[in-house]
Amino acid sequence: MLTSLTLLVPPAPTSPLLTFNRLSHFPFSPSISAASSASDLLRVVSRRLVLATKTQSITTMATQEEECMGSVKAQLAKIFEASLKVTVPNEPDVEPLIAACTGKFGDYQCNNAMGLWSKIKGKGTQFRGPPAVGEAIKNNLPTSEMIESCSVAGPGFVNVVLSKNWMAKSIQKMLIEGIDTWAPMPPVKTAVVDFSSPNIAKEMHVGHLRSTIIGDTLARMLEFSKVKVLRRNHVGDWGTQFGMLIEFLFEKFPNFEDATETAIGDLQAFYKASKLRFDSDPAFKERAQQAVVRLQGGEEKYRRAWAQICEISRTEFHKVYQRLGVHLEEKGESFYNPYIPGVIEGLMKQGLVEESQGARVIFIEGVNIPLIVVKSDGGFNYASTDLAALWYRLNEEKAEWIIYVTDVGQQQHFDMVFKAAKRAGWLPQGDNSYPRASHVGFGLVLGEDGKRFRTRNTEVVRLVDLLDEAKSRSKAALIERGKGEQWTEEEIESTADAVGYGAVKYADLKNNRLTNYTFNFDQMLNDKGNTAVYLLYAHARICSIIRRSGKDIEELMNKGTLVLEHKDERDLGLHLLQFAEVVEEACTNLLPNVLCDYLYNLSEIFSKFYSNPECKVIGSDKETSRLLLCEATAVVMRKCFNLLGITPIYKI
Ligand code: ARG
Repeated sequence: MLTSLTLLVPPAPTSPLLTFNRLSHFPFSPSISAASSASDLLRVVSRRLVLATKTQSITTMATQEEECMGSVKAQLAKIFEASLKVTVPNEPDVEPLIAACTGKFGDYQCNNAMGLWSKIKGKGTQFRGPPAVGEAIKNNLPTSEMIESCSVAGPGFVNVVLSKNWMAKSIQKMLIEGIDTWAPMPPVKTAVVDFSSPNIAKEMHVGHLRSTIIGDTLARMLEFSKVKVLRRNHVGDWGTQFGMLIEFLFEKFPNFEDATETAIGDLQAFYKASKLRFDSDPAFKERAQQAVVRLQGGEEKYRRAWAQICEISRTEFHKVYQRLGVHLEEKGESFYNPYIPGVIEGLMKQGLVEESQGARVIFIEGVNIPLIVVKSDGGFNYASTDLAALWYRLNEEKAEWIIYVTDVGQQQHFDMVFKAAKRAGWLPQGDNSYPRASHVGFGLVLGEDGKRFRTRNTEVVRLVDLLDEAKSRSKAALIERGKGEQWTEEEIESTADAVGYGAVKYADLKNNRLTNYTFNFDQMLNDKGNTAVYLLYAHARICSIIRRSGKDIEELMNKGTLVLEHKDERDLGLHLLQFAEVVEEACTNLLPNVLCDYLYNLSEIFSKFYSNPECKVIGSDKETSRLLLCEATAVVMRKCFNLLGITPIYKI
């Protein structure tokens, strides 16, 4: 029972940090702004981090006990932690190492024995080797209704077989209380996800599409974990190219307010034409350079022309976001511009900025080129902006985790910016402590020829066209399957949206983001294999099983009982229960493909259960329990879709 466990855990709030809970568990920010110098700040941050890292598992657990949930892995960790305290009382800080296992000996394994043995041997221990340590860990486990049996294997691995009753009860509890009770609990309150971030007047390319899709998923996972997420569109809306664009605008539209989207047409073509003019006409170039100065000096007419160009681009970007159902808040490069001088001055005062060939730079250990923070002409650049943005996010927005989603090509840039921030004491030294900055890199999108993705005859791929094609193909498939006669126009449209855009997203997310992936409509829209179409249909099928039963599922949840007797039922139940730790892993390691793998396996395991004649659902004497299992599968699948930004469908 859990009560006996409580006795084994050391008395709680002796240290102030043991009291921090979900609501106040990351109290860095106020102290950060109160710190008077970088070294003060560093001390505050690192002290809190050490404490936070140490106490985090305890905190998470205390909260879990309150909420009675948390992942299976975390709950087992809590039980094993209690055993470890008794088994090796002189080793107080041993983190329980718990892993799910696929072998036939158990569902989970505790792998602490070997590591512990190497720590304690020669220190006068009574144990005779890792198996004995494992045996003691097993024997010291407090009784828990979670565990059915334990055994020790090989060099001290403690295998755990979960109790079927406990598993069934936990799933039913989730059905009643909602899937939110299975959300991860990352140790941060506020995060910035900097994603999508195309450049004004330039092409929004497939790289930006990847960033949009991956960033949205990461934001969704954090939001599900009750983190406040600032979804930042760091658009490239500042820089010297605007002089050229503005001058060209004045030239083409003497009354520049008339230059609407329809008048300009394609802003990319406009950009190209103005660049041509810039490169070939010295007088124009001169005027363009003047225009930048006047724009940056804040001259009204120039600001308005700039704003207009931004607005036209924005309308174009919006079409993509609207199709994908992605929400972003724009804070472009221009927003941080006023902060740059102060931030650089601060870094200079700390002695971090040096002079190199007329430019001001920060040298970074292990990198042979320095980070240029002021160009030799006195202007600021991409790096200056990113430093100011990072400063702002940490100090003004009080973000504890700042996540940047761009192609891997920008990895070095972010690596240097983060290292500079560490030198400045804005971020702690260790990579796993908070506040933390993470670069989420991704590979290229390739065409079927294995080269960078392009459409047949044009240079660039218009993202809107690409998405429209996904939708129209999925609509055609629906019509082909005779849905035109059975469904309303609206149903066809919304299903085509869900399937088409879902397919594009899933094809991207299912790969490890660091690898390049090949864009192929036929593959992503296939209704077999690991595709969104297959998964969406699998979900719709489950919904139709429940509908066909004619039962009120709410009533079954509250009055019926879920049991996991058959092996296929138990396998499905176990997989459902692992949802919490999988999302946690996907979120901690910023890897959406982990969640995709889980979802695909879920539908496979469900099929195995459902197609087994021994597990007949409708009309069997286990109907209630099995319908509840179907419902739990549908609920978990829907949450996966939701986290992946995919709209579920309910009928096929
Ligand atoms: N605008 C950049 C690009 O298109 C991406 C910006 C990413 N975010 C950042 N804070 N640098 O490559």
